[in-house]
Amino acid sequence: MPVTGDAFSPPLAAIDLRSDTVTRPTAAMREAMARAEVGDDVFGDDPTVNALQEAAAARLGKEAALYVPSGTAANQIALLTHCRPGDDVLIGDGAHQMCLESGGGGALAGVQYSVIGKGGFFTAAEVVAAIKPDNAHYPPTRLCSVENTHNSSGGRVWQGDQVRAIAEVARARGIALHLDGARLFNAEVASGIPAAQIAAPFDTISFCLSKGLGAPVGSLLVGSRDTLVRAHRYRKMLGGGMRQAGIIAAAGLYALTHHIGRLAEDHENARRFAVAVAGAPHVLIDPATVETNIVLLELAASAPLDAEELVRRARERGLLLVTMGRRRVRAVTHLDVDRDACERAAAILVELLRAA
Ligand SMILES: Cc1ncc(COP(=O)(O)O)c(C=O)c1O
Repeated sequence: MPVTGDAFSPPLAAIDLRSDTVTRPTAAMREAMARAEVGDDVFGDDPTVNALQEAAAARLGKEAALYVPSGTAANQIALLTHCRPGDDVLIGDGAHQMCLESGGGGALAGVQYSVIGKGGFFTAAEVVAAIKPDNAHYPPTRLCSVENTHNSSGGRVWQGDQVRAIAEVARARGIALHLDGARLFNAEVASGIPAAQIAAPFDTISFCLSKGLGAPVGSLLVGSRDTLVRAHRYRKMLGGGMRQAGIIAAAGLYALTHHIGRLAEDHENARRFAVAVAGAPHVLIDPATVETNIVLLELAASAPLDAEELVRRARERGLLLVTMGRRRVRAVTHLDVDRDACERAAAILVELLRAA
């Protein structure tokens, strides 16, 4: 019995839109992995890990980067690095770091979250209003965390001006800024703004290689050298020191070099999928809100089936989706589903909704 997941083995022929994490390494990526030079990364000896870390730091215009097993590890290490137990962290609702990381903020870093804004987005004024007074009754507000693209809002992208204004008020009050950029490169491709520019206002940035970029594993935490020296200790503490990790880092390096530009295809496939499904009964989607590779389908209150039932019926037809609450279904496009597969996926959903 597996200890994770829903014990479901997807049929190989399925169109899998559950997440952009389901991709399998391409032949060229496997080739790069097979050829990777390796060493013991706990000694700092793995040339491929070092090359990946250097490439990530350079790409984001920061001094240093640390290779970690997952986006969750990167976010939690960032919290540990910035905060002490009892600190306050300002964050948008639905943030992965707060909602979907097994309570790590409380259990590991001992922080409390103050949720601000709406739908995952917030303004500089909301940051200012939420900063706790300098008074013994309150926890010190130490960190503000932004998620771009924002997963639970449907992969939406932050406006640069809004982030700059937030950074200005945070800086002025000595509050650090973390970017959960699990899908940072989707934001880069969708907005046309280079990742380094998006990353510039932040002290730390996490980004994932194992989502839209198509690597099998791994994320990076990026920031200043001093910050990353402290982060490195927490990576070790959490068991994230890996030995001949160049084997997997090679896949990440390959993804960073070859798989960013193609994210535009995923975005276009998501948009077309949304337009096609928007015509079906019982479902509410505004295709204009589909900015990257995530599509949220909202079932109308009057719909004769709920999200779980729609996902079940879709699975019977070979289309895999996930629920995001009772009336919401998520579809995510990625490297392993082409235009044709996305069109077939939309057609299956439209048929199911018409027949419901
Ligand atoms: C916005 C965001 N942050 C962090 C993560 C965590 O990444 P991982 O699954 O690699 O731990 C995810 C995963 O979906 C995510 O969507």
